[in-house]
Amino acid sequence: MAGDLSFSELRQLAGLTIEEVASETQSSVSTVYRWERGETAPKAPIYRTLEMLAQFNTEAAEKTSFRFIDLFAGIGGLRIGFQGIGGHCVFTSEWDKYSQITYQRNFRDNHPVNGDVREFSEDPAKIPEFDVLLAGFPCQPFSIAGVSKKNSLGRPHGFLCDTQGTLFFDTAKIIAHHRPAAFLLENVKNLERHDQGRTFATIMHVLQKELGYHVQTRVISSEPWVPQKRERIFIVGFREPTEFNLKALEIPGSGSGPKLGSILTPHVDVPEKYTLTPKLWDYLQAYKEKHEAKGNGFGFGLCGPNDVARTLSARYHKDGSEILVAQPGKRPRRLTPKECARLMGFEKDGREWHIPVSDTQAYRQFGNAVVVPVVEFLAQAMQPYIEKALSKRERERASSVTLHEAKGVLELEII
Ligand SMILES: C[S@@+](CC[C@H](N)C(=O)[O-])C[C@H]1O[C@@H](n2cnc3c(N)ncnc32)[C@H](O)[C@@H]1O
Repeated sequence: MAGDLSFSELRQLAGLTIEEVASETQSSVSTVYRWERGETAPKAPIYRTLEMLAQFNTEAAEKTSFRFIDLFAGIGGLRIGFQGIGGHCVFTSEWDKYSQITYQRNFRDNHPVNGDVREFSEDPAKIPEFDVLLAGFPCQPFSIAGVSKKNSLGRPHGFLCDTQGTLFFDTAKIIAHHRPAAFLLENVKNLERHDQGRTFATIMHVLQKELGYHVQTRVISSEPWVPQKRERIFIVGFREPTEFNLKALEIPGSGSGPKLGSILTPHVDVPEKYTLTPKLWDYLQAYKEKHEAKGNGFGFGLCGPNDVARTLSARYHKDGSEILVAQPGKRPRRLTPKECARLMGFEKDGREWHIPVSDTQAYRQFGNAVVVPVVEFLAQAMQPYIEKALSKRERERASSVTLHEAKGVLELEII
């Protein structure tokens, strides 16, 4: 380990807090702060132990480390999964002001949240080098009128030009410039059927034929992980041929997922404002009756603790109709934002999620997000193949950044 690191740098690389060092070395916290500020130095054996720990951590990080970028980041659902397998997020783009607030509150970063992706796809060199690209790009129709004419003319610009003006185009341009070892794109299940399948066919054509990636797709429902039926399509691409097999991944415990009761707050602890007003409840019931009479299945979804919820949407803040929680002797209520955080798996197994925005913004953010444990599952499955896919140069770059970034975070903390 480099002998010129300060105590503070070593402590960070060793992954210990000041309090932990104090307790392990039976020193007072104020003594450790003096070491931290370089006013005094610990005895040599303490320094050596920290060096060993730091070396161990750095080597472990080198084994799994890679750099990734988070495009159309929302509140960072994709990021959590790839951070969890040792990835370092080096660039984020999300233009919504409120999502940026939530993102920054939940990820302590040494890089800012950038705005419009298009500013970077125009000049992708502005994005730092990375190994894996993550993007939950918004789905937009492509204007592919005239394809056959262009086809007959030999399509000089390829299909990529048909996607111009769409956010997929911006994503593809960034992939084309940086040629990451892998990417994960996420979208609504309906992407496959969008514009009678043309949108999806164009996306696949660009990724496979024009960018030359080995691409696999799969629709996965979140039910095995959270009490919500949320189906999303995942598009995984590797730059080199890979043995990773998305379709063959065994989804854990299908059919025996958790029920809503596992994420609900006891009714008595839920503020009254989440109970529907009489006017809204009357309206929703009348609406359902009207549609049922017509033979349509539209209307609200009333659930109890033994149910699995419908898909939480970005418009949940409007009337909450897709997931209403039945309350004994009372009108139903909406889920609280905290319950949504659990329903989407942002808050799970001891992981805490901060909600620094209004209820309306929080509902929008969760309704737009991915279910985190699904991404964690995919990231874990992809991890060994990502490692294999990195070239020697990329591996070296990723590990040198580990050290560099640890120092970056350190500087931020000291300030
Ligand atoms: C489907 S959401 C992605 C959600 C994310 N995967 C998550 O877990 O929170 C798409 C996001 O793209 C953002 N967005 C749309 N157009 C954008 C643009 N031009 N530049 C940056 N972000 C954009 C939206 O604000 C939205 O948060």
